[in-house]
Amino acid sequence: MNDKVVAADPTVLAGLDNYVNLPAAQQPTWLDQDEIKRVRAELAVLPPLVFAGEVDTLRKRLAEAAAGRAFLLQGGDCAETFADATADKIRNRVKTLLQMAVVLMYGASMPVIKMGRMAGQFAKPRSSDTETREGITLPAYRGDAVNGYDFTAESRRHNPERLLKTYNTSAATLNLIRAFTTGGFADLRLVHEWNKGFIDNPANARYESLAKEIDRAIKFMAASGVDSSELKATEFYVSHEALLFDYERPMTRIDSRTGTPYDTSGHFIWIGERTRQIDGAHVDFLSKVRNPIGVKIGPNTQVADILELIEKLDPNREPGRLTFITRMGATKIREALPKLVEAVRDSGALPLWITDPMHGNGITTANGYKSRRFDDVMDEVRGFFEVHKAAGTFPGGIHIELTGDDVAECLGGSDHIDEATLEQRYESLCDPRLNHMQSLELAFLVSEELARR
Ligand code: PEP
Ligand code: CO
Repeated sequence: MNDKVVAADPTVLAGLDNYVNLPAAQQPTWLDQDEIKRVRAELAVLPPLVFAGEVDTLRKRLAEAAAGRAFLLQGGDCAETFADATADKIRNRVKTLLQMAVVLMYGASMPVIKMGRMAGQFAKPRSSDTETREGITLPAYRGDAVNGYDFTAESRRHNPERLLKTYNTSAATLNLIRAFTTGGFADLRLVHEWNKGFIDNPANARYESLAKEIDRAIKFMAASGVDSSELKATEFYVSHEALLFDYERPMTRIDSRTGTPYDTSGHFIWIGERTRQIDGAHVDFLSKVRNPIGVKIGPNTQVADILELIEKLDPNREPGRLTFITRMGATKIREALPKLVEAVRDSGALPLWITDPMHGNGITTANGYKSRRFDDVMDEVRGFFEVHKAAGTFPGGIHIELTGDDVAECLGGSDHIDEATLEQRYESLCDPRLNHMQSLELAFLVSEELARR
């Protein structure tokens, strides 16, 4: 385990720190250099949030998904906030993911790897460094890890102390997740319980009848003497976008067993469409850590780009190491994705392919909300399955922005959220999320697609 201090190999450390020589997109501008140095030193000696052994297990699970024998469900907020790290909100998100996983597992008859976009998702890339309101220009909000959402100079200042709060809030969130998922709450015999406390809706009702079937199946297994200890707890992994070097680097530790670096801020980390430059600092840093890693790719990605990313991030073609998270947009996926999937297939590489049907489908409503149409999200998922079917590759997972709460941020779904409803229940500080019911509906669609394959 990587909780022992080991003398790190200087060449390993030099490799890990090579990113400092490369252009790093989307980094904060801390005003006080002494302060950030002190915060980094403090982070570097805090306990790891995850252990190398867990990270290795996840890599094996993801290898199963890449090989077509498991499915990855990854979901959570666009941006977690310190204020929303409450027991209720965390529990609702975990419950929603557990429910979705059951729907998928039952429909597809294969293991579902559960992964939160949680316990670390506090930093955001932005398209503009500044925001102007009524003639006043201030630094853009970059996530609670960097600055505050309130539109004042003090709140928008990039504040290094926030990195420590990011660590503490992530630790508290992960602690609760571990308690929920291993302390009895995730017991499959409680499938009905997970549906409680949510507003009645058609997706809930559909879930309820599936839960009854699962109940019967479990009772049947128990009656036939099958040991159900496997049902009592579940593996649950956490992930976030690895954006800030001042957080990710101090959280990276040398594993005493293998002498290799693990980023212990989360089990799985990814880089986004804005930071995946092949000669950039983010790709270099990710290439040096042992965690399974993801890269978001948008509709302008070229075949050469993706082959270069594989070469740099997964030179040994290690199963489970690399995941491509495609976020093309419903209108583009059927054109943009096939050439990439085919080229990668023909190169012999076997990354995991998952769909993010959210980030290519952003719109701004007439009343000024950042939103997404549920139908577009569903359509991109269908397109993802179609493309992989045609290429003979495996559509191995979904990456969703969701909440367990009854918000109104994405348009449509079977309770027909319209633009006016956004004005009543829009809470996200960043991108719009599927609410509890829309998330379940999506899970049913994906399970049908998986069952049909
Ligand atoms: C995100 O996942 O919130 C995000 C910013 O995505 P992308 O990098 O795909 O735009
Ligand atoms: Co987002």
